[in-house]
Parts: sequence; structure tokens; C-alpha cells
Amino acid sequence: MNKGFFLPLLAWLTIGSLSTACKPASTSATLPKLSFTTDVRPVLEKHCVNCHHDGALMGDLKLQSRATAFATRAKGPVILPGDPENSPLFKVLVLPGADPKAMPPEGHQIPVEQIALIKRWILEGADWPEGPEGTVKPSQSLQ
Ligand code: HEC
Repeated sequence: MNKGFFLPLLAWLTIGSLSTACKPASTSATLPKLSFTTDVRPVLEKHCVNCHHDGALMGDLKLQSRATAFATRAKGPVILPGDPENSPLFKVLVLPGADPKAMPPEGHQIPVEQIALIKRWILEGADWPEGPEGTVKPSQSLQ
């Protein structure tokens, strides 16, 4: 292969891969919507569901599936889609550590990025798929 052909080809390949890498995930200017399965579920799985599922019912809250999380409860809904400030699921994350209702009870706070993520997810409408993608597994049942 001679240089006259090779260099332009190399430049073309480089520019091609750069523009692919920089392509936004969504065509709109706003951030792409969070995904329950990839963004939110890991947080609930790691910090919440071990205490909040069928077998360990704390605070009358079950977070292992869409159906249980949105089930009618005596204390009212825990997630109000579009309204994180009034959703107990978010409110308990921003309580001062000394507050007995701050979640999770040990540590009293999850990383701020994860709190922001829960807030944004509720603001975006709290989409929670049914079926395996929306199933949050307590880690105790995996052991
Ligand atoms: C170690 C166990 C444990 C963990 C982990 C835990 N919780 Fe709780 N949670 C409780 C208990 C116990 C209560 C009941 C407290 C009360 O009634 O004062 C509660 C209550 C709540 C309530 C109020 C429920 C209601 O009926 O209104 C919410 C909301 C909540 N938890 C959310 C969470 C979230 C979100 C996480 C994860 C960041 C989490 N919890 C992690 C034990 C836990």
C-alpha cells in the first residue's frame, strides 16, 4: 500500500471513530432519561431492599418490584412520580443523620450522587418496569 492512499485512509478511520465516540446517546439536548434497571435498581439493591421486601417488612415498604413498591399502603404512596420532594422514598434520603427516620438506618446516608439519581428518576416519572427487569433482589436470598 503506498503512502498516498494509506494516510488519507488512516485519517478517515480516525475521524470516523472519533465522531462515533462523541455521538450523543440521545438526539435531544437534554440528558437521556435514567433507566430503572441500570441506574436505579443497583442503588435499591445495595442499600434498601434487604430490609424492604416481603420477608423483612420494615415500615410497611416493599421495594422488590413495581407492584409492591406502588401497592396501596395505609401510610400512603412512597413514590409520587414527578414529585420527589413529597415522595417518602426520596425524603428519607435527605434527612439529617440524627433523624431516626433517615435511611438507610446504618450510615444514615447513601452517596450524594445516588441520592441525586433517585431524585432525578422520580422527577422523570419514576418508570419502573414489570417483570425481571424491574425485580430488585435482596442479596440475602442469593447467599
Ligand atoms: C437495616 C434495615 C433498613 C435499610 C437498609 C433501609 N431501611 Fe428503610 N426502614 C427500615 C425500618 C425499620 C423502617 C421503619 C422506621 C419507622 O417506622 O420509623 C423503615 C422505613 C422506611 C420508610 C418509611 C416507610 C413508610 O412506611 O412510610 C422509607 C420511605 C424507607 N424506609 C426507605 C428506605 C430506603 C429508600 C432505603 C435505602 C436507601 C432504606 N429504607 C433502607 C429499615 C431499613
